[in-house]
Amino acid sequence: MPGAYHQLLDAAIGHLESLKQRGVRYVDVSPELLSRLAKPTTQKTAAAPLGQAPPAVISQRSDEPDVYHSPKLSAAEKESALAKLRDEALACVRCGHLVSSRTQVVFGVGTVHADLVFVGEAPGQDEDKEGEPFVGAAGQLLTKIIQATGLDRDKVYIANILKCRPDTPGKVYGNRKPRAEEMETCFPWVKRQIEIIQPKVMVALGGTAVEGLLGNMPTGITRLRGNWQAYRGVPVMPTFHPSYLLRNQSWLIKRRVWEDMMQVMERLNMPISDKQRSHFLRR
Ligand code: URA
Repeated sequence: MPGAYHQLLDAAIGHLESLKQRGVRYVDVSPELLSRLAKPTTQKTAAAPLGQAPPAVISQRSDEPDVYHSPKLSAAEKESALAKLRDEALACVRCGHLVSSRTQVVFGVGTVHADLVFVGEAPGQDEDKEGEPFVGAAGQLLTKIIQATGLDRDKVYIANILKCRPDTPGKVYGNRKPRAEEMETCFPWVKRQIEIIQPKVMVALGGTAVEGLLGNMPTGITRLRGNWQAYRGVPVMPTFHPSYLLRNQSWLIKRRVWEDMMQVMERLNMPISDKQRSHFLRR
C-alpha cells in the first residue's frame, strides 16, 4: 500500500524533524525497522498520502504554446541560437540592483542537444565568480547526482531561473531567495533556453525553481516532489534542491531525491541497474 507507506514516512520525518528542533540527536531504531522503512518505492507516479488528493499535475503558463510546437531547429541552428541568446543575456541590464552587485551573468552550462535540463534557483557566490551554474558545494552534489544516473554535466543542460546572483547588501557572503519580480523579469532567458533546447524532461531543483518555472507553487516542495508537473508540454520533475540535501543529511531525503531521479531515468528510457535501484536503501 504505497499511500499508507508514504503517509507513515511523512509522519516519521515530521516527528524526527521536531525531535531535532528540540535538540534530540539520537533515536533508537532497530535494524529490522530501518530495513522495512527502506523498501523500494519506484512506482512511476508517486502515490499521495492516504486521505489526500495527489497534487494536481499542473501545466502552467499554458497560455503559451507547447515548447515542442516551435519549429524544429537543426543541430547547427540550435547551437547558434543558444550562442546568440547567451551573448544577449551576458549584456542584460534589466535589474539595475543586480547589475551593480554581480560579477557576471551566469547563463547556463551543458549541451544544447540535451534531453534533460536541470533548472535551479539563482547563482550563489561561487557561481557568480566562475560564471557557471552549480559549481559550489550544492553544485558538486548535483554533479554526483547526475553522474549516479550514468550521465555527466556535459550530456545535460543546467540553468537557473535567475541569471544574476541575488544581491545581499551589507553582507560579504550568504545568499537570498530571488524575489518574485526578479524571477519574472529574468524568466524570458530561461524560457528561450528551453524553447531552443526542447528537452524531453526537466528537473526543477527546489520550490523556488518550481515557482519560477510554473509561475506559482501549488503546494510545498515536500508534497510536490516526485509528482510530474508540466511546463508547456515538457514533463517537469520537482525535487529537493541539493543545498537542502547538504543541510539535511538524512538518507531518507537522499533516497527521495534518488527516487525522483529514477522516475526521470524511466521517462528517458535510461537503463536502471539493480545497484542503482538500491542506492540509499539501508539493508
Ligand atoms: N543554487 C542554485 O540554485 N543555482 C546555482 O547555480 C547554485 C546554487
